[in-house]
Amino acid sequence: MKELKIFGIVVVFTLALYWGVEPFAHGQMHKHVEGHGLVYDGSADIEEASKEKKEAKKAFWADVKKIAALKGDATAGEASYMMCAGCHMDGAANMGGVTPPSLDHAGAIYDKNFLIALIKDPAMATNVDHKYPNGTMAHPMGSVSAMVSAPQDIANVVAYLQAKKAGEVTPKEAFTEACGRCHANRYGKLTQLGEVPKTKSNIKTGQDIDALKYAQKVATEQAALADYLGTLPPDLSIIIRARSEHFLHTFIENPQSQLAGTAMPRTGLNHEGMEKVFAYLEETGDPSKPLREETGPKVLLFFFIFTALAFLWKKAMWKGHH
Ligand code: HEC
Ligand code: HEC
Repeated sequence: MKELKIFGIVVVFTLALYWGVEPFAHGQMHKHVEGHGLVYDGSADIEEASKEKKEAKKAFWADVKKIAALKGDATAGEASYMMCAGCHMDGAANMGGVTPPSLDHAGAIYDKNFLIALIKDPAMATNVDHKYPNGTMAHPMGSVSAMVSAPQDIANVVAYLQAKKAGEVTPKEAFTEACGRCHANRYGKLTQLGEVPKTKSNIKTGQDIDALKYAQKVATEQAALADYLGTLPPDLSIIIRARSEHFLHTFIENPQSQLAGTAMPRTGLNHEGMEKVFAYLEETGDPSKPLREETGPKVLLFFFIFTALAFLWKKAMWKGHH
């Protein structure tokens, strides 16, 4: 009876710590940020905006909504897409501090409303307009708003991106296109310039000249990025272990909500894009997870059968001893 009481007290205290104290302390240390279900309608931006900017943001996102209601013509969009391809081409060079990413799967991984907003005004869409007090043309993609500006044109380009079928997007492609121009992933053998090429040391000198040349290119790209963003974005190889899933989700959806003033732009991922990026982060940061998940049920099944057998064995042994 006494043991039961002690046990009861231990249980009550443990549960109080687990459900009461720990979440409370956690909530005090980290601001709780609600996600917006990957809906990009500007409501968070308008809420956070200073008084002077509120009206401009409201008008901007209201325009986005109007354009989203237009029916886009993918065929007509292909012609306007040539404007995009001028910057977003294979082997594109760094411009203004960052290299334009491949748009192969843009229609699959980014939200439609976000894409519309991005073409209208990249700095507003990605919620980094605070970096451009004199207007957002200075953003490295800013001049797009002078190239593709009519609402119908914007709707057409987005329809073209969504119709473009480049095959199903892999986790690695999603990461490379959405994050890879800024973040390296060492365990995935990715730098900001893409996959690390295989090179060989010279037998006589022991030096791998091609690897050194590549390292120099990466260092130059990183220096440009650090100038553009104020800091070099961290390697994301094991971020999945350092941060909770909730933090990562809400941060990627709207970096400003977690880290006001951060230089990381909103990436505008939709559900598929987010899922694929997470899959890649798991692949590099927690490669033993699939094995764990596969082994877990087997171990449980083993214990279950073992317990049943032990019980039967005990019954058999005690039979006739009572
Ligand atoms: C244009 C560049 C850029 C892109 C694209 C970008 N990021 Fe970032 N990211 C940054 C910068 C800069 C920081 C550092 C933020 C700071 O310290 O203010 C950062 C920080 C982070 C952090 C660390 C947050 C923390 O402090 O724990 C995570 C996680 C992250 N990014 C994830 C992503 C993911 C996932 C993607 C792709 C979906 C992505 N980023 C795309 C620039 C970028
Ligand atoms: C003047 C060159 C230029 C033009 C024209 C341009 N872009 Fe970009 N784009 C960029 C650069 C540079 C970035 C990277 C910006 C950054 O990371 O801060 C970018 C980023 C993007 C991204 C990634 C955004 C994200 O959330 O990660 C998408 C999608 C995109 N552009 C689509 C387009 C489309 C569609 C068009 C044509 C309507 C277009 N771009 C035209 C230079 C350009």
